[in-house]
Amino acid sequence: MPDAPRSVLFVCLGNICRSPMAEGIFRHRLAGRSASPAFHVDSAGTGAWHVGEAPDPRTQEVLRRHGAPVPGPARQARPDDVEQFDVIMAMDRSNLRNLHRLYPSEAHGRVHLMLEPTTGGDVPDPYYGGPDGFDQVYGLLDEAIEAWLGRWGLG
Ligand code: 4NP
Repeated sequence: MPDAPRSVLFVCLGNICRSPMAEGIFRHRLAGRSASPAFHVDSAGTGAWHVGEAPDPRTQEVLRRHGAPVPGPARQARPDDVEQFDVIMAMDRSNLRNLHRLYPSEAHGRVHLMLEPTTGGDVPDPYYGGPDGFDQVYGLLDEAIEAWLGRWGLG
């Protein structure tokens, strides 16, 4: 198995719904491990519309209900993120394409689709839907994070 990463960046479009949810779940799952290593964890959006805003209230509600921490304000993804993070998780294929444009091709192997180890599909954008969508996204992300932690020998 390749060395387990020690830093992970979760990326979606706005950094207010999916990627902060992934960040909160990841922190929550890591805190529950007895021998959890020090991890640098963050999230970002490929777009700049919501920079500086707190996560969407529906993301906050789902995270709190599960006892997971609520991440800080949104920021935009930057080219130098690829130097700061071992792995970068794109929530959907559109995010993945945008990240490929942002980073040099040598780094593309460290950019993964979030649901690669589970459904292989995209994390649906819940922004324009109802609260059920946020619960569905929580389930998809939680399952995928468990799978990634297992791959990295942290399961
Ligand atoms: P996210 O959801 O990418 O999961 O944070 C979105 C949030 C805002 C917008 C789109 C998606 N927006 O167009 O403002």
